[in-house]
Amino acid sequence: MQNSIQIDLDRTLGTIDRNLFGGFAEHLGRCIYGGVYEPGSPLAGEDGFRRDVLDALRRLRMPLIRYPGGNFVSGYRWRDGVGPKEERQARADLAWNSTEPNTFGTNEFVDFCRKLGTEPYLAVNCGDGDMREARDWVEYCNGTQDTALVKLRKSHGYEAPHQVKYWGIGNEVDGHWQIGHKTPQEYARAYTEFGKVMRWVDPSIKLLASANSSWAPDWVERAQLLMEQAGDLIDYMAIHWYVGNREKDFARYMALSEEFEARLSATEGLIKAMTLARGLKRRPAVAVDEWNVWYRAGGEEGLEEVYNLEDALVVALQMNAFLRHADGVKMANLAQIVNVIAPVMTSPQGLVLQTIFHPFELYSQRCGTVSLDASWKGDTFDGGSHTGLRVLDVAASLNPETQEVALFIVNRSKGQGIEAEVKLAEGSFRGPAKAAVVNGPDVEAANTFEAPEAVGTRESEVAAEGRSLVLQLEPHSVTVVTCGIG
Ligand code: AHR
Repeated sequence: MQNSIQIDLDRTLGTIDRNLFGGFAEHLGRCIYGGVYEPGSPLAGEDGFRRDVLDALRRLRMPLIRYPGGNFVSGYRWRDGVGPKEERQARADLAWNSTEPNTFGTNEFVDFCRKLGTEPYLAVNCGDGDMREARDWVEYCNGTQDTALVKLRKSHGYEAPHQVKYWGIGNEVDGHWQIGHKTPQEYARAYTEFGKVMRWVDPSIKLLASANSSWAPDWVERAQLLMEQAGDLIDYMAIHWYVGNREKDFARYMALSEEFEARLSATEGLIKAMTLARGLKRRPAVAVDEWNVWYRAGGEEGLEEVYNLEDALVVALQMNAFLRHADGVKMANLAQIVNVIAPVMTSPQGLVLQTIFHPFELYSQRCGTVSLDASWKGDTFDGGSHTGLRVLDVAASLNPETQEVALFIVNRSKGQGIEAEVKLAEGSFRGPAKAAVVNGPDVEAANTFEAPEAVGTRESEVAAEGRSLVLQLEPHSVTVVTCGIG
């Protein structure tokens, strides 16, 4: 069958928020200690931040990073992690059954973000923490008046406020695994009161509600209650998901695109319905503030998942879904950034870029600001309970300033290269187009310290003049094509 992709610059889906390329760092395993922060390492600067990690992460251009958890935050006391290091005390971390030394805390995290060129996004403890602690944290970070907490921050060496814009209230409160797990009613109530006082401290902050992570049947009720009780206090409804291929069934794994579509559409639909029903002043956005592939490495392994090529394809499928839902989804945070289910894996001597690093880098660097409603047709496959799925999965964007189109294409065939014609409804390509392909020898290929470049990105040029161009899409690959339009 002939494969083709149609692009019409007049058919747009929404503005793409840069925050779709966010990250997440948790006090867990070697994400902070041994990943981001390793004082004394020859690879670290005087501030203790790993320079090689900073360099790798800069390539991902993450606009914001969520911190300090995750499950960890539901037992965290932010005061433990500020002030002179010699006075900081270690605490038991019940979420991950470890000991938290507290030598890295709020100010180190903000310094790290500034160095990286990213915005800090803090999650407050709505597990065993109270609203006083949450609002005090906002005041410590953002306060400008002459109060005890602002003086405390200044005495710690931070004269200027941190201006932390994004604040999440709790983490995965719907999960029984969470310290301070809450019923829908308990969380809606807690969110309302936390949000109210945090906004009173700093009316400019954006608030995220922990709407759904378990996808248990009560998620609709949870989201409804939250929006009924706290609608105007919610800037984002945050959802989480992790996926994997335990069954070792490639087709089923590739068909997860349908699950991403269903989850995003359902969450957007519910938010729209509640916004209308409650007459809210504005519609909260969706934030997928934890997402990734995660199914192999548990707590014992410090969640040090080693990714292969098929995982990189599934990461690209998730990003395609976010781009196609750009109108409703305004934030997404790859979980996590270093070592723990992450695109970067460190050792004391260096680091490896995992397979999933490569599509993320391409998408983040080449995506435009407007999502285009690309349509495509061609070969199909059956996977899981789905039949007739298109082998290609496609998203597209436009950068109106440079008049450049970007196409994001996953070829989900394990063995078949596909020739696809890309047709413009109007205008013409001003080639040559730039094509970047993420691929490797087979879908199980992984990047390790022994073989760090089994999967990587290759660049090429494609002739592109007039109304159409022809792409040769390699089996099991992610291709990002950019081209000027005239
Ligand atoms: O990212 C790892 C863990 O996954 C986080 O701590 C938690 O929020 C989720 O269950």
